[in-house]
Amino acid sequence: MTSSSSSCTQNKNDNPIYFYDYHPAQADLLDEVIKGMKASPRVLAPKFFYDETGSKLFDAICKTKEYYPTRTEIDIIKNNLDDITKHIGDDCLLIEPGSGSSEKVRLMLDSINPKAYMPMDISKDYLRMAAEDIASEYPWLEVHAACVDYTQPFALPPCHTHARKVAFFPGSSIGNFDPEHAVDFLNHLAQMLRGEKEGGLLIGVDLKKDKQRLDAAYNDSDGYTAAFNQNLLNRISTELDAGFDPDNFSHRAFYNEELGRIEMHLISNEAHTVSIGEHHFKFEKDQSIHTESSYKYTIEEFQALAKKAGFVPVKVWTDPNKLFSVHYFKIQSA
Ligand code: AVJ
Repeated sequence: MTSSSSSCTQNKNDNPIYFYDYHPAQADLLDEVIKGMKASPRVLAPKFFYDETGSKLFDAICKTKEYYPTRTEIDIIKNNLDDITKHIGDDCLLIEPGSGSSEKVRLMLDSINPKAYMPMDISKDYLRMAAEDIASEYPWLEVHAACVDYTQPFALPPCHTHARKVAFFPGSSIGNFDPEHAVDFLNHLAQMLRGEKEGGLLIGVDLKKDKQRLDAAYNDSDGYTAAFNQNLLNRISTELDAGFDPDNFSHRAFYNEELGRIEMHLISNEAHTVSIGEHHFKFEKDQSIHTESSYKYTIEEFQALAKKAGFVPVKVWTDPNKLFSVHYFKIQSA
């Protein structure tokens, strides 16, 4: 367990922002890239997509006509806000792991009226900015920001320890974990939410559907997903002393029906060698680097998965076309 240092600053509107810094270890890009290039098949972790350019490209993906998850999830939340609010209940401590710019939680804050909002992110400067923005936009809201790697075990900051804890995990981010790791992560969330009072989890999960629709969502016609995938190589070449040429690789994304996941790859266009410092990696023509998996679940499959981590299914909201699901689970009090 890591410990935190905390500070409190006054916002110009008077609501305090509490900041808990757990000093999370930043991933070592060089280390992980070398490891990934030595693995067979070769891999790069999707968390490395999100440098400044990558984050902008992801926003562009979300606006393409083919990528339905973001807008569908937003519509589900908007269309069911009263019912979602009823299930979440009054006066909770609302926790958001991987909060980024805290965009989607804004749809719910006025309605839910939580006791406090706790955004969590590994990126300190970004978290501080996002926390200040949301605090000035919601002058009544108490904001407790935690700079932490939420995928590692940690103790919640010592605030509102008696409150009911509800986590918000939108965007089908859970799809990036292999199912076994998704259970581990949900277990760790459950532990965090368990307390004197019954906690809850509101989580967005992309649904299984026909292959054409899924393939299209990860091969948009404007090419933003391809650019997003290839930007990983730009990033590595810029930040490391590495000779990746993005033009030597092609974007490939497809739905693997057997495994129930989208796979994204970068495929070498021809035989060539890439140098990273004193390391040299030979690529065959058509050799792949696996850059992302995005698992899709039926409603029942996801409920079964969450049950393994101790969550009790309460309600599921979906869209008329059954593209995306938003689940509410509760966790038994300790
Ligand atoms: C942010 C992980 C949910 O898997 O759909 C979008 C990322 N990758 N297009 C997803 C992504 C390519 C996205 N998640």
